[in-house]
Amino acid sequence: MSHKDRYAVFGDPIQHSKSPKIHTLFAEQTGQAIDYQAQQVPADNFQAAVARFFAEGGLGLNCTVPLKELAWQYATQKTQRAELAKAVNTLVWQADGTVLGDNTDGCGLVSDLTGNHGIALAGIPILILGAGGAARGIIAPLLEQNPAAIVIANRTVAKAAALAEQFQAGGSITGCGFGGLHGQQFGLILNATSASLSGQLPPLPPNLLAEQGCCYDLAYSNKPTPFVRWGWENHAGKSLDGLGMLVEQAAEAFFIWRGVRPDTLPVIELLAAERAGVYGLAS
Ligand code: ATR
Repeated sequence: MSHKDRYAVFGDPIQHSKSPKIHTLFAEQTGQAIDYQAQQVPADNFQAAVARFFAEGGLGLNCTVPLKELAWQYATQKTQRAELAKAVNTLVWQADGTVLGDNTDGCGLVSDLTGNHGIALAGIPILILGAGGAARGIIAPLLEQNPAAIVIANRTVAKAAALAEQFQAGGSITGCGFGGLHGQQFGLILNATSASLSGQLPPLPPNLLAEQGCCYDLAYSNKPTPFVRWGWENHAGKSLDGLGMLVEQAAEAFFIWRGVRPDTLPVIELLAAERAGVYGLAS
């Protein structure tokens, strides 16, 4: 059998992960000989599982919920964007035996918004819902796009204020509770809460979205998320979920590991067509 370099995604749960399919499609497209598997790894077994994977010759790992903070702790070296995010979704085995941690989530989001959907971020007011790990990972890459301002709104107001404070140096950024949003309007609203996962939606005031403004849910699902539906109901120019971000963050990880940039659009289209086929929905 011909040799294939080994990669994997660790998470818990992991059975519904689309990452093995995405990376296998990238590998076929670019002629790279890689084997990419999903492995269920509970948090209390993370260190041992990562050490074993690299000891057995694995070259790179993706880490997903709930392991990104643990991966950040594990990495001996980290990129600046991983340091800012305080979370790592990509681990890279290096020739000197150390492990580098990176975070490709934020740049995956920006690539999907700007590259795939043509949404210009410069000069627009952006609202981020949520102040947990998912929100933290996207703030610096969004600020780099020079939006007019970023507002972080969260159920626990103190967390929004603390997160905004931490990124002060990067641009205009403030934190508030959902009640503090009355009377404000945004050209882009990003849902980075985990409320979608339980079918819930943060309490949002009317007229929050500017005319032709866009909604983007960092979560993805085979069915439209409550926030994607909120976007439709509020006449969003575009109301999107995180499928494109998922593929873009994977492409950036693939590039870090293999030095080759895959073409993401055919992969996004294939995954979108698959779920439209399953649920009979327009994607
Ligand atoms: P993640 O890594 O996915 O961001 P997290 O760090 O646990 O997960 O953060 C979850 C985020 O979703 C938080 O901002 C949380 O609000 P609190 O900080 O007030 O807990 C938010 N969240 C979860 N469920 C929510 C709900 N039903 N309505 C509003 N916000 C919710």
